[in-house]
Amino acid sequence: MTDEVTLGCIVGVTVVDDRDDRAQTDLALRCRCDDLCVFEDRFDLANATFHVALLVLGRVVVAVFLQISEQSRGLDLLSDLDSTTGREVCELGGQPVVCSLRKLVFRHAHKGYRRPYDGISMSRAHRVAVIGGDGIGPEVVTEALKVVAASGVKLDTTDFDLGGARYLRDGEILSDSTLDQLRGFDAILLGAVGTPDVPPGVIERGLLLKMRFELDLYINQRPFSGVAPGHTAPHDFVVIRENTEGPYVGEGGVLRKGTPFEVATQGSVNTAHGVERCVRYAFELAAKRSRKHLTLVHKTNVLTFAGDLWQRTFTAVAKDFPQVSTAYNHVDAACIYFVQDPHRYDVIVTDNLFGDILTDLGGAVRGGIGVASSANLNPRRTGPSMFEPVHGSAPDIVGTGKANPVAAILSAAHMLEFLGEARAAEALRTACVDAPRGTTSHVGTEIASRVAKAAK
Ligand code: IPM
Ligand code: MN
Repeated sequence: MTDEVTLGCIVGVTVVDDRDDRAQTDLALRCRCDDLCVFEDRFDLANATFHVALLVLGRVVVAVFLQISEQSRGLDLLSDLDSTTGREVCELGGQPVVCSLRKLVFRHAHKGYRRPYDGISMSRAHRVAVIGGDGIGPEVVTEALKVVAASGVKLDTTDFDLGGARYLRDGEILSDSTLDQLRGFDAILLGAVGTPDVPPGVIERGLLLKMRFELDLYINQRPFSGVAPGHTAPHDFVVIRENTEGPYVGEGGVLRKGTPFEVATQGSVNTAHGVERCVRYAFELAAKRSRKHLTLVHKTNVLTFAGDLWQRTFTAVAKDFPQVSTAYNHVDAACIYFVQDPHRYDVIVTDNLFGDILTDLGGAVRGGIGVASSANLNPRRTGPSMFEPVHGSAPDIVGTGKANPVAAILSAAHMLEFLGEARAAEALRTACVDAPRGTTSHVGTEIASRVAKAAK
């Protein structure tokens, strides 16, 4: 396996003690490595006390310890396995791997009885940090969590009081110690941050961008599907926005501020490494989709230094994906196509600032920013990824019940998918099609009941 392979989750472990028949103990592990690879193997173990180490990534060891003390004793009782549920069972480079023992079959012929345990869930709840934030953020997040609960997926949530309001209260934006706490979660669900009373940039840079940079959330994935105004056929495309570089890094400065001779510069930082990993992610995604078409969007005719790096990288990585057809659009032209011909797109890859602007347009084309979801991903899973609607905190409609929770619900769907809960994620997405109208909580309750019905 290559460096790129990440173990997403272990969905099934079957322990079969067949000693009577075969004089050995078998451990079959079926591991679904999320969307990157499927690993399936069966280990024959002559010894009843065994440690199985799965080598994944070529260097990260997932150690699955199922200690059976003696041939007859260790698996006598289900409780013996209970004591090693969830986190203790699986470790991925020091981080817990989601473990769900959906089907545990235990046949202990040695003791003269057979006991199948089917459908026993030993999965632990996913640990999710919830940052409701400001304005309508907490309102939409409440609905998103309501819908997730209806899907049956267990979340162990911890609220973090962060955002403009918190900053105004005690000055905390996102301290390093809070950031360290966040690192310990499986995912972060964020509503929206920003209050009119705080100067622009303080919360954006200090909280949102700090999380993106420090947690290395280098992919910002924003899907757009639906029927655009003036069209009859649906479109379905995804924007992959580089999320840790470009003009967002804050390179530059100001001289002689406030004078007629003021000088302000704001650079765009593009690294070969940063561009490559983003472009490669987009190709990998395109290769998995049915149309397999990837468009690079930039402004290579003006931003000749950065544009050249993006274009060369795109061309080089394309060689590894002969099955993916490619195209290039200047960003201004892409704005026209978003409105006039969104069907041409399948996957788009672009830099941080172009991606920011384009995805607001994508939201409008899709039928409103209230339904545009986004995922800030650390595809290497060296820390939690963060899921948030594209929209802001909309202080003007706080408390009116007008906030549309669909974007937050779809962001939660992406979170579930990333956590290995693909079925539940699909149920959430399906329930958001032809979303009901009404107040924020009415829409959430209605979608939750659709999800609950589907889960039955
Ligand atoms: C977004 C937002 C952020 C961005 C702001 C709030 C910093 O507009 O997520 O698109 O520019 O990335
Ligand atoms: Mn934006």
